[in-house]
Amino acid sequence: MFASRTNWNLTENRLALALAEHRRDGRPLLDLTLSNPTEAGFAYDESTILSALQNSASLSYEPAPQGFLSAREAVANYYAGKNTHVSPGNLFLTTSTSEAYSYLFRLLCNPGDQVLIPSPSYPLFDFLAGLNDVRLVRYPLLYDHGWQLDFSSFERAITPRTRAAIVVHPNNPTGHYAKAEEQTQLSALCAKNNLALIADEVFLDFAIQGSPANSFAAQVGALTFVLSGLSKLCGLPQMKSAWVALSGPENLKHEARQRLEVIADSYLSMNAPVQHALPALLATRAQFQAQLLARVRANLAALDDQLSAQRNCSRLACEAGWNVVLRVPATRSDEDLALDLLREKNVLVHPGHFYDFSQDGFLVLSLITSEKDFAEGARRLLSFLSS
Ligand SMILES: Cc1ncc(COP(=O)(O)O)c(C=O)c1O
Repeated sequence: MFASRTNWNLTENRLALALAEHRRDGRPLLDLTLSNPTEAGFAYDESTILSALQNSASLSYEPAPQGFLSAREAVANYYAGKNTHVSPGNLFLTTSTSEAYSYLFRLLCNPGDQVLIPSPSYPLFDFLAGLNDVRLVRYPLLYDHGWQLDFSSFERAITPRTRAAIVVHPNNPTGHYAKAEEQTQLSALCAKNNLALIADEVFLDFAIQGSPANSFAAQVGALTFVLSGLSKLCGLPQMKSAWVALSGPENLKHEARQRLEVIADSYLSMNAPVQHALPALLATRAQFQAQLLARVRANLAALDDQLSAQRNCSRLACEAGWNVVLRVPATRSDEDLALDLLREKNVLVHPGHFYDFSQDGFLVLSLITSEKDFAEGARRLLSFLSS
């Protein structure tokens, strides 16, 4: 009765099972995988957020496939603040970047067509691609004192069925930006090979040091779709509000816009209250980002302090985002290490393979965990590794 694309292996992995048991037994937990900003103890501007949702204009229905102009203008202003011109006419609102990925896969790919994704990266791509009958092909990222794109592997991964390449900027969990030269080169390579470029910039603003890198929305070589939204920029994933910004050659942009409009019109998934509220919600980002970045910087400093007092473990460079990658001795699988840490130390971390690290020896920690839990969790983790 069911489609083969939904024939998933739904058995939970060993860590998820152990965590469920841990919680059932009521055991304490230092969660160093926290990713939900609304559970991380940040202060939100409640009155602004709630009153923005009470607009009487929401009482009437105005179907708008691209999203309300007032909301798109607020998004265009967000880019103008970065000295990047994005016209409201080149913006489409979606309920999440996940929905945006689905729109783009439907726009660009026939069943079985391929999309390039970075490795390591964000684990949801497999599901999003599978749901849209798209095949993912990985292009490895290289680490040598910092992460970089391996352009020769990237080019080798392209086949006649490749339709698009995804870049996550900054990437999750590696926390590196595509450098200005890499952005230009990637855009040129995509243009040369007739590929669309999809840049996921949900973490763009979270530069740990210095200022955020430029958005791919400034690139004009390839047809480019920049994805972002309130989920990370404002720490408001519950508002289900994101967007796609188009840039690139005028003729391709025009055709993409027309086709995307039909896709968006078929669902009309954005609700009115959130669209009316979007300008006010987006304006709360400064307050949220300041708190989040203070947390990330404090946790990273505490980690570096603890790392400097031992020799078993180090961390990889990270420029931006909410996570840090630890390099640990590969004396057992990362999953076994995560299980042991949970059972013996009540500390939850993600093994690297969750994020597609191809070798053992990597753990991913969330830097948005409270300072107290993070410092204690890191202390237990490092003492466990030196015992
Ligand atoms: C790289 C990346 N893109 C997108 C998302 C999800 O964004 P949204 O809530 O808009 O679907 C995440 C969530 O962790 C992410 O890490």
